[in-house]
Amino acid sequence: HIDAIIFDLDGVITDTAEYHYLAWKKLGEEIGIPFDREFNETLKGVSRMDSLERILEHGGRQNDFTPVQKEALASKKNDHYVQLIQTITEKDVLPGVENFLKQIKEAGIKIAMASSSKNALFVTEKLGLMTYFDHIVDAATVVRSKPDPEVFLKAAKAVDAAPANCIGVEDAAAGVCAINDAEMFAVGIGDRSVLGHARMILQSTKELNLETFLNEYAKKD
Ligand code: BG6
Ligand code: MG
Repeated sequence: HIDAIIFDLDGVITDTAEYHYLAWKKLGEEIGIPFDREFNETLKGVSRMDSLERILEHGGRQNDFTPVQKEALASKKNDHYVQLIQTITEKDVLPGVENFLKQIKEAGIKIAMASSSKNALFVTEKLGLMTYFDHIVDAATVVRSKPDPEVFLKAAKAVDAAPANCIGVEDAAAGVCAINDAEMFAVGIGDRSVLGHARMILQSTKELNLETFLNEYAKKD
C-alpha cells in the first residue's frame, strides 16, 4: 500500500522551472556566462547556491568570486525570480494536478512536498494549494540539496510514512536520484532521456492519475 505521495514543486505542480531558468539565464548573461536549456537541465532541482557553483564552473570562473560576492550573485538571481513569481495565481497550477491531489486526499493517502526552493511556501500559497498538503519541506530546513535524499526522507517522516511506501514525483534528474536514494518509488514527469532512471515516466501532468500510480506501484517488486 501507499502511505504518501511526495511532490516536487517547481516544474511538477507549476511551471516555475521556466522562471528559475529565465532568472539564472539573466544572471549568467550579466556575468558573461551564457548557457542553454541543455545545461539548465543540470540545474533543475538543485539548491540556489549549488546552482550558482555549477554555473560558475560551467564558465570556468569558480575561483573569481569571494563567498560574499557569491552571496550577492545568488541574491540577485533571487530578485529576478521573485519578480517573476509575483503574478502567479490559481490559474498557474499545471493541468491535471489539482484533480490528482483531490484523488489522493479522497483515498486517504498523505500528501507532502519536498522542494529545494526557499520560495516554496510563497508559490504554494499563490497557487491556492496549501490546504492539500499535510506537510511541506522547503530548502530552509534542509542541509543537503537534491540529489541527496534528505528532503524526501524528511517529508516522509513528517507525515509518518515509511519510505518504502512512498511515491516521489519529480521533473528533474537530480530529484529522481534523490527519490531513488531515499528508496522510494520514483515517478518522472518529462523527457525520458533526462528521467530514464525513474520507475515510471509521464510526458505531462495531464497523465497524473491515482489508479495508474497504484497499478504501477503494485508491480514494483
Ligand atoms: C528548485 C528548482 O526547486 O529550487 C531550482 O528546481 C532552484 O531550479 C531551487 O534553483 C532553489 O530555489 P530558490 O527559490 O530557493 O532559489
Ligand atoms: Mg522540479
